[in-house]
Amino acid sequence: METNQGWVDVAAVDGFPEGAMQALIVDGKEVVVFRVDGNFHALQDYCTHDGGDLSSGTFAAGEITCAWHGARFDVRTGRALSPPAYEDATVVEARCCDDRVQVRLR
Ligand code: FES
Repeated sequence: METNQGWVDVAAVDGFPEGAMQALIVDGKEVVVFRVDGNFHALQDYCTHDGGDLSSGTFAAGEITCAWHGARFDVRTGRALSPPAYEDATVVEARCCDDRVQVRLR
């Protein structure tokens, strides 16, 4: 992966369809990237309930549902939407640059 001011290349925009998600490791941290309404969003791949990997869950309508116990999060904001998670997921910066999807840890 190529880095530029901390931005890490994920995929070509054309190769990342609407409603898709992709997990990757950035600087040793697990991250999951989502495409919603043409925009890209990313979260740390970690459920705040009990540490499940969000990328093994179900992604639909801008929400990820954790496969472990069913907590839901808004992938655009990281907001916890339902128990058993009460703490928001950690947002990772995501952008499009020169037709590439990129992420950067804060
Ligand atoms: S670890 Fe995600 S809902 Fe429990």
